[in-house]
Amino acid sequence: MTTHSLLLLPGDGIGPEVMAEVERVVAFFDKTGKDKFKTETALVGGCCFDKHGVAVTDETVAKAAKADAVIFGAVGGPKWDKVPYEHRPEAGLLRLRKDLDLFANLRPALCYPALAEASSLKRELVEGLDILILRELTGGTYFGLPKEMVTLENGEKRAVDTTVYTTHEIERIARVAFDLARKRRGLVHSAEKRNVMITGVLWNQVVTATHAKDGKGVKLEHILADACAMQLVRNPKQFDVIVCDNLFGDMLSDEAAMLTGSIGMLPSASLGAPDPKTGKRKALYEPVHGSAPDIAGKGLANPIAAIASYGMALRYSCDMAKEADLIDTAIAATLARGFRTGDLMQPNMRQVGTVEMGSAILEELARAAG
Ligand code: IPM
Ligand code: MG
Repeated sequence: MTTHSLLLLPGDGIGPEVMAEVERVVAFFDKTGKDKFKTETALVGGCCFDKHGVAVTDETVAKAAKADAVIFGAVGGPKWDKVPYEHRPEAGLLRLRKDLDLFANLRPALCYPALAEASSLKRELVEGLDILILRELTGGTYFGLPKEMVTLENGEKRAVDTTVYTTHEIERIARVAFDLARKRRGLVHSAEKRNVMITGVLWNQVVTATHAKDGKGVKLEHILADACAMQLVRNPKQFDVIVCDNLFGDMLSDEAAMLTGSIGMLPSASLGAPDPKTGKRKALYEPVHGSAPDIAGKGLANPIAAIASYGMALRYSCDMAKEADLIDTAIAATLARGFRTGDLMQPNMRQVGTVEMGSAILEELARAAG
């Protein structure tokens, strides 16, 4: 029997609360599924800074690199607003992404039928929505150098972020986009700002060339990133896969999240390249939502994105697609029964907290598993 090793990094804010529900789902599959799970928990973010003076320790990064999958909660909060920039909670997550070379960030936005009314968009625009934002995660503005703030001679300050991309970085993410699209509806939109940014010009050229080489069976469209943001709320169902750089992906995925009813619904997978020997990819799974300090510790957070992130780990790191489908089915059934956390609440629905939502999903899992 296979045993999968999971490193759990609950982090700050609502992270530990939603992770507790993930742990119950892991225990369910450990008991009933075909494989076993071995979990270990470590600190990341503000709580790690409080204990160790850094947002993530070398030891945790090494454990993350060895684990079959890392499940991440959320980091950050007002408590750490004054922490030095290089030690801010988010730096822990960014270091994990960079050190593990997790360049491909899959952010599916799926509108469950029961939630079509919860979106701020009209039902007909979002009902049945199933799109995938593929965000480049280790390059661009997030990591480009120089990244600095200097004081000029006249006393004014000057801050610089740098957007950098190389052919190889664009090529490998484009290839992932075409591979993913082939298993979906076969359409890729590549979003950049080639009208303003020279990295956008290169992005456009490399995606086009990679498509000619490796894009068989996939239709490629180019779209300016701002127009893409607009089309996402005008007619989101025209998209299948959207591939874009790190910064545009950050923004477009938050926008796409709201189409599904709440940002509390969106899971994500961050994957590295397959190991040439074992074929395995390093992987980190995290809900797209943040640490939500305003509701932290109150038992109100929506655990669905975190549980669905574990579902993605089953699919992409554990070769357990059937079990991953089971999680998606259980979430849909729980929503169909009217269970709603505060972020999704609508008239005549049953408002529940984090633990009750977790319990309801576990009940549906048990039912579906027979
Ligand atoms: C995300 C988050 C992160 C990002 C933050 C927490 C650093 O917003 O995963 O989308 O900007 O990438
Ligand atoms: Mg973001």
